[in-house]
Amino acid sequence: MPTDTSSFPHDFVWGAATASFQIEGATREAGRGESVWDRFCATPGKVRNGDSGEIACDFYHRYRDDIALMRDLGIDAFRFSIAWPRVLPTGRGPVNQAGLDFYDRLVDELLANEIEPFVTLFHWDTPQVLEDAGGWTARETAEAFVEYAEAVSSLLGDRVGHWMTHNEPWVHAWIGHSWGHHAPGRTSETDAVAAAHHLLLSHGWATEVIRRNAPDSRVGITLNLAQAYPASDTPEDEAAAWHVDGEGNRWFLDPIFRGAYPADLLERNELVEPFVQAGDLEAISAPLDFLGVNNYFRFVVSAGDEGPRMQRDSEAQHTDMGWEVYPDGLNRLLVRVARDYAPSAIYVTENGAAFGDVRVHDGRVHDPERTEYLESYIGAVADAIAAGAPVKGYFVWSFLDNFEWAYGYSKRFGIVYVDYPTLDRVPKDSFHWYRDFIKSRPRAPHPSPIATG
Ligand code: FCB
Repeated sequence: MPTDTSSFPHDFVWGAATASFQIEGATREAGRGESVWDRFCATPGKVRNGDSGEIACDFYHRYRDDIALMRDLGIDAFRFSIAWPRVLPTGRGPVNQAGLDFYDRLVDELLANEIEPFVTLFHWDTPQVLEDAGGWTARETAEAFVEYAEAVSSLLGDRVGHWMTHNEPWVHAWIGHSWGHHAPGRTSETDAVAAAHHLLLSHGWATEVIRRNAPDSRVGITLNLAQAYPASDTPEDEAAAWHVDGEGNRWFLDPIFRGAYPADLLERNELVEPFVQAGDLEAISAPLDFLGVNNYFRFVVSAGDEGPRMQRDSEAQHTDMGWEVYPDGLNRLLVRVARDYAPSAIYVTENGAAFGDVRVHDGRVHDPERTEYLESYIGAVADAIAAGAPVKGYFVWSFLDNFEWAYGYSKRFGIVYVDYPTLDRVPKDSFHWYRDFIKSRPRAPHPSPIATG
């Protein structure tokens, strides 16, 4: 049965997501400080093709036109992140008002267009000065984050109804601090474990600050989660899948919802112990209003001599990232998270696919695979809701083609094509599909709790 909007509650939030470094550009404007991603891009060999965030989609200058396009799309909400080095170029100390003003204007423009802002405080662009002082491996960075959360939420707290403290702490901790494929490019497992702990700690502390400054708003965190399927029903494969689930999913879900790291990951517990102080887990497990879930694929895991091994099904469809298209993985994940952790609400804060889009002779971008992907994953969300998962909204990743981290501009996730030489925007066929899909819903969604008072 094709997916349709009647399977969703009338107040379900339809949105699109982005992140500051991936779209804004204007990296030297209005007093913005250097971020770890500026430094990483400037380091030879780190980012494909030597790409950088200097211009990106130039959203910083074009946000009004982009919001007009969002209005045409008919989305209820736009998820974006704030660039910490615009607000606090020196990490701690004086707030750069000109940097904050950009987000003030952005929020007002969204609200004027009846689009609710969903704000992420941290989507990986740490001020470089803080990295120089130890970055997320140092507890002081969690303290600095609280000052940043204070500055942003006291300015925007009267208009922003949904806050995410962090985006995908697993990715930032491991890919950035252990694998070295993302900024800041560290390559130590201990650094990754320390960074993850301090990210979680700062989440707990910042939650309190946001609640004080924006008492009517809802606070959450976004995790990248993926269901781990055992390759067979042997106890060995099942144990391997559980281990993978522990490292990626439970290492974050358990402290947030249960106030404890998962005990079965013995080595990791030993690594984290020196960084955990009295009261940390209480802070991390402060009650949340919602959980943000980013999901793109699933894992299929078998037991190998040297630990769990990821299997690749060569028959299955894969996106341009090499990620398997498996919508039921999202359904299973949402139902399982709801059952095991009972979050009061879940938003799918990212889901989407990269394909090798081209603009053809008629000037348009035909991306049937993306439309199929979105339709099937949205169908999986409907299945999870039918099974009782409290999913309240869905955000396509991404609104625009953008800077895909170490892949530079080579991966296109947008439902709007960006022609980088001219920065022209071309809505892809999937944009038109999403627009018609949203339009078909029975009645208008609920307004933002804050925007309309
Ligand atoms: C997620 C990130 C997002 C984007 C997508 C494809 O891991 O949160 O910034 O890069 O993947």
